[in-house]
Amino acid sequence: MIFESHAHYDDKRFDADREELLSCVKANGIERIVNVGSDFASCKRTMKLIEEYEFIYGAVGIHPSDIEDLNEEVYEWLRDAASNPKVVAIGEIGLDYYWKKDPHVQSSQRYWFCRQMELARELSLPVIIHSRDAAEDTITLMQGIHAEQIPGVLHCFSYSPELAEQYVKMGYYIGIGGVVTFKNAKKLKETAAKIPLDRILLETDCPYLAPEPNRGKRNSSLNLPYVAREIAVLRGISEEEVTKASWENAYRLFSKVK
Ligand code: NI
Repeated sequence: MIFESHAHYDDKRFDADREELLSCVKANGIERIVNVGSDFASCKRTMKLIEEYEFIYGAVGIHPSDIEDLNEEVYEWLRDAASNPKVVAIGEIGLDYYWKKDPHVQSSQRYWFCRQMELARELSLPVIIHSRDAAEDTITLMQGIHAEQIPGVLHCFSYSPELAEQYVKMGYYIGIGGVVTFKNAKKLKETAAKIPLDRILLETDCPYLAPEPNRGKRNSSLNLPYVAREIAVLRGISEEEVTKASWENAYRLFSKVK
């Protein structure tokens, strides 16, 4: 049984065959999926998906690259949406300095990252954090607001094994996806081998970041066994041990999932 902790099935790249694909994931061992909102429109589409499919749960939040979508009204919408029993996390939220270089935009990202972290704290929900090219600001900001009191996952982790260890010490989970199968992903392979097994979450971030041997194609949860296999090889354990641990980890973190 595989727990997919991070997918974007509301993405338009699934428009042509979404139903067909989602009707066969369970037969392939994918028993739970968290569909993660990024902009306001995708949060609304996520709410529809969790209504349509019993095994899909949702996360609502505004991604740092779409921060212009956020204002007090949308913030209140997020609060309302999060009261749905199938909304299990606030996300994805965080900092992305790779796509946004403007210091004003970056400062707005930090402001709304803090606000959405506070929303999670207030609602006792975990967070799904996206951080790219913003390693130092992310950890500094999180330490500043006592983020160790808010459970969460660093999704699609891309920083050093040392930083992963720091997040694990803060109580955070590390989301590992298709990139771990790439030949040049040395740091991530080291992270996947070293961090405690009870801190690993399997994720695709589909439609993005398909693992080898499907690199470059549209990704889906059906590729998760490739990710689990790679982590198993790196750790010298069985694939089943990886999927079982990450299933239990996801249940521990997303405590509203049934
Ligand atoms: Ni994502």
